[in-house]
Amino acid sequence: MNGGKRVIRGRVLTFTDDPAEAGASARRTFEDGAVLVEDGRIAAVGEARDVLVRAPEGAAVDDHSDAIVMPGLIDVHIHYPQTQVIASYGAQLLDWLHNYTFVEEQRFADPSHCERVAEFFLNELFRNGTTTALVYCTVYPQSAEAFFAAAERVDARMIAGKAMLDRNAPKALLDTVQTSYDDSKALIEKWRGRGRLDYAVTPRFAITSTPAQLDAAGALMKEFPGVYMQSHVDENTDEIEFVRQLFPEAKNYLDVYRRAGLLGPRSVFGHCIHMTEDEVGAMAETGSVAAFCPTSNLFLGSGLFDRSRLAGAGVRIGLATDVGGGTSYSMLRTAAEGYKVLQLNGQSWPAAAALYQMTLGNARALGLDHAIGSIEVGKDADLVVLDSRATPAMAHRMETVEDLDKELFVLVTLGDDRAVRQTYVAGEPRKA
Ligand code: GUN
Ligand code: ZN
Repeated sequence: MNGGKRVIRGRVLTFTDDPAEAGASARRTFEDGAVLVEDGRIAAVGEARDVLVRAPEGAAVDDHSDAIVMPGLIDVHIHYPQTQVIASYGAQLLDWLHNYTFVEEQRFADPSHCERVAEFFLNELFRNGTTTALVYCTVYPQSAEAFFAAAERVDARMIAGKAMLDRNAPKALLDTVQTSYDDSKALIEKWRGRGRLDYAVTPRFAITSTPAQLDAAGALMKEFPGVYMQSHVDENTDEIEFVRQLFPEAKNYLDVYRRAGLLGPRSVFGHCIHMTEDEVGAMAETGSVAAFCPTSNLFLGSGLFDRSRLAGAGVRIGLATDVGGGTSYSMLRTAAEGYKVLQLNGQSWPAAAALYQMTLGNARALGLDHAIGSIEVGKDADLVVLDSRATPAMAHRMETVEDLDKELFVLVTLGDDRAVRQTYVAGEPRKA
């Protein structure tokens, strides 16, 4: 046993700000670097020779000298009950939900199914280098129970919530205003702040909640200050039209949530593609976060996220896979598709900025940058080790690469789970 002490040696790379705005000074690198981990936290970081002499006797040394050691990756929008929905053919959002997703999610009434999938899902995140995620469970409280229990077993920093739906879905998938309130409250009281876990009040989207249920979600946010809120907005044009019919009194889609008190700095809205100026303004004013979900937006044919427009208006932005509308668990793949989406909008995204986004940027989006998102003494020892030469095609391409920025672009554009050599969760290696 090493008593929870470990040195991880490699090419340390971490960000202090968005390099797209702050330039190269926004990153810290130690080419022959190391991170000392003690009891799940970062105890030292720097040149390998300095860290190694500080390491206590008996500390394990994991030598990844030729690979990049970065903060663990963060995904701000993903559905754990959709591991067997991913790659379902031929439909856009509303049909995709009814034909595949709402069918599959009914299987989570069975706690043993929840446990099996929660275990698979967390391992898949770790295999892809993701150490923190904001996660949707199903309507069934047992699906949230199983997820939190699985995350607690490995001391992962996870945020999740039971979905609230009381209309426009199969009967077996509906709760009520009262049960959704009671079940969410019980889950918050049981799991919030336990280990590294936190809770997100989760009204799935405006279509599947009555105004009264959205108000109940707002009441939970008031009752539990600082609790997260996650939902979907402005993903698909048919969805937006349906919302307009369901809520004729609202100014626009986001206004449905605003009226229920659901906007704020702890609120993360998936997609935010087809936004009016008023909606963009409300996002910025309230500090709400827009989750950019490129693989999902392409796969479901939803549209192109306009990053410059939202960022220019002061909207906080996160990056997310949105599995299973999204088609990859990999944040590297997600950023690669994000780059292509932005290209179609005439926008660019340097690899360093994408890597900042999936680490410190997403930590800031979740208000967790005091604990995760960069390699700094005192922060959680959630780390990923990335190999830019992981596949023959990557190694071959790397033969012509002469600086770090070009290497990072190869890593982001061609990388996936194969580029993840190891993932440390609270200092423990978890890549199977
Ligand atoms: N809107 C409501 N539910 C969902 C979901 O599960 N996935 C996506 N992409 N959009 C949604
Ligand atoms: Zn989603």
